Amino acid sequence: MNIIYDSINSVFMLNTENTSYGIAVVDGKYLGHLYYGEKLESTDIRYLLREDEGPRVPSVNRREKGAFLDCTPLEYPETGMGDYRESALCIRSLSGYRASELCYEGYEICEGKPSLEGLPATWGDPSGCRTLKIFCRDSLLGMKVTLLYSVFADSDAITRSVLVENEGEEPFYIEKVLSASFDMDDRGFEVMGLFGSWARERHIQRMPLGYGRQNISSFRGESSHQEHPFMALVTPETTQDAGEVYAMNFVYSGNFIAQAEKNQFDSVRMSMGIHPEGFTWKLGPGERFTAPEVVMVYSGEGLGKMTRTFHDLYRNHLIRSPYLHQKRPILINNWEATYFDFDEKKLLDIAEEASKLGIEMLVMDDGWFGKRSSDDSSLGDWVVNEEKIKGGLNALVENVKKMGMKFGIWIEPEMISPESELYREHPDWAIQIPGRETTQSRAQYVLDFSREEVTDYIYEKIAAVLRSADISYVKWDMNRQLATMGSCALPADRQGELYHRYMLGVYRMQERLITDFPDLLLENCSGGGARFDAGMLYYSPQIWCSDDTDAIERLAIQEGTAMIYPVSTMGAHVSVCPNHTVGRTTPFETRGHVALLGTFGYELDITKLSDEEKDLVKRQVECYHRYNDLIREGDYYRIASVAENGYYDSWMILSGDRQKALLFYIQVRARANGKSRFVRLKELDPEQNYRAEGKVYSGQVLMRAGLRIPAEFGDFVSRIIEIEAV
Ligand code: GLA
Repeated sequence: MNIIYDSINSVFMLNTENTSYGIAVVDGKYLGHLYYGEKLESTDIRYLLREDEGPRVPSVNRREKGAFLDCTPLEYPETGMGDYRESALCIRSLSGYRASELCYEGYEICEGKPSLEGLPATWGDPSGCRTLKIFCRDSLLGMKVTLLYSVFADSDAITRSVLVENEGEEPFYIEKVLSASFDMDDRGFEVMGLFGSWARERHIQRMPLGYGRQNISSFRGESSHQEHPFMALVTPETTQDAGEVYAMNFVYSGNFIAQAEKNQFDSVRMSMGIHPEGFTWKLGPGERFTAPEVVMVYSGEGLGKMTRTFHDLYRNHLIRSPYLHQKRPILINNWEATYFDFDEKKLLDIAEEASKLGIEMLVMDDGWFGKRSSDDSSLGDWVVNEEKIKGGLNALVENVKKMGMKFGIWIEPEMISPESELYREHPDWAIQIPGRETTQSRAQYVLDFSREEVTDYIYEKIAAVLRSADISYVKWDMNRQLATMGSCALPADRQGELYHRYMLGVYRMQERLITDFPDLLLENCSGGGARFDAGMLYYSPQIWCSDDTDAIERLAIQEGTAMIYPVSTMGAHVSVCPNHTVGRTTPFETRGHVALLGTFGYELDITKLSDEEKDLVKRQVECYHRYNDLIREGDYYRIASVAENGYYDSWMILSGDRQKALLFYIQVRARANGKSRFVRLKELDPEQNYRAEGKVYSGQVLMRAGLRIPAEFGDFVSRIIEIEAV
């Protein structure tokens, strides 16, 4: 890892172990983007700017500004001066003009990585991380912009963010501030993204990039079920193991845009940042704005390498929880078992049966507070409903503990039911536009988390619950998207700040929670997996992946999620059949195998399982204890995707020392008159022998010829195979 400034060529070069990123100062003023890709040992690459090539119009002076701005690859493009491609920065002055022109001023290279005020971000210590700050100024506005880039000794990722400061005399308005942008020549790129819906999150889609702009975005106030803050540009031949990938992932949980734009010269601009829709930030003299972080990964060795780069970066430099490297307690959650219809007796019955089978924690889901017995009341009234939980929370928790289990609880701090004490007392605390009907969703409004008095109040109420009993785990839910965006506390010219201030409020409160309760295991959630993003992983080591617990639906959801996020972060449970979301019936074993890829737990009425199923629970609990260290800490390899082949899914986890692997194989559809399949394993030691299902093979054979997996009779049949060096 290093950062070089070549003063002869005015070139900055950021190097990771296998990649390089180059920036040039052009005409002593502009920042041009030179290169991103496989590592370069030389910085003599200015020719990549094509400074000597003009537009092919004889009458035009090739250094004329308009022509220059419209075709030069730029590092941080702005609105208003003649670059007609997507800008990264749009400033409106107090007089109403939309333009800025940054001029390069200097740079600084420092050891380590500065934190980003109020925001989640990757971190790195001075021995393993270095940061480049490039300073630019627009003297008319008095605006200083610092572009931040960090590289890590142990990762091929590069992180970026942007700091905008007002050093002038009057305020200006930031109408758009993306966190990363760069230009490169098209190579027939295809765009990959993650798309879905509630219960169907993060399905992978790949499509050709044509002329114009293609974007992936959310202005729902959260990263969302629908589109995900991730984009990759891949060459057409790219597979898991080969081909080029340029990926961006946002360390942020609110509105975002990721965009690829192919222009008239077949140049592609890739960018990512806060969605400009609904965003304006007034920056007064002396104030600064920090744009959230984008993680960029280049892989010249296919998607699998990209995946493992993200996984390692997030495990080593993003997730802070002490639980990251620990086996999490196997939990049983009562949601799909009871929904709102439970009392302490029902919970204790579940806990008792669960404890006998080796389950380690009971999680009490939605419905324990206020007068909540359906989803139409009480959010905001964070007081235990003693009609349901007779004897109170502490007694319940102590009884659960007597069974040798821990206790966890569900909360939804960001919400307020119109039917609640809190709303009757503080109607102005809901996000709303005066004079308009406030949009309800799941019969709830959203609390104005931009206001500290609101977050402080909710925090104290929830902290009081957590202090009232021995609570080991919290599931922080968020069950609707934002609309009718107005804050009763913000002045007119700051209403455009609400979406982002809301996110800062969520982050502030989560930070406070994990600081005050350092032993708490926090799991984030949002109507399933609508806020499964790198921003939330800074606060919680795991996130509920989806409300869809059907093993087959989960294959696509977990494949898409694990393309970026470590499998140790994916909340995954075994539930009953027919499945509550899709009505499908799958074997109990298969449900267990699919859930083993994540944090593992149960979400069913365990008192109603047959003896045979209870035996299977015991076996699954054993499997979890046997395999979780490997699954959590190992390297993930995608071997086959049912979305591509129509029949089977397969992935593999390999230990860092390549001594152990676990192969998962799910036959989704049986094939009439089908033969066995040879599944080729990845990255084993070719010189080493391995035992699999009692037989010894050479690593080379397992990789080149494959392990034989018999064809089974029936759909949804799965197996996991242990592979161990001998
Ligand atoms: C969301 C969560 C579920 C459950 C319900 C409770 O949908 O994703 O797991 O907690 O809310 O209302």
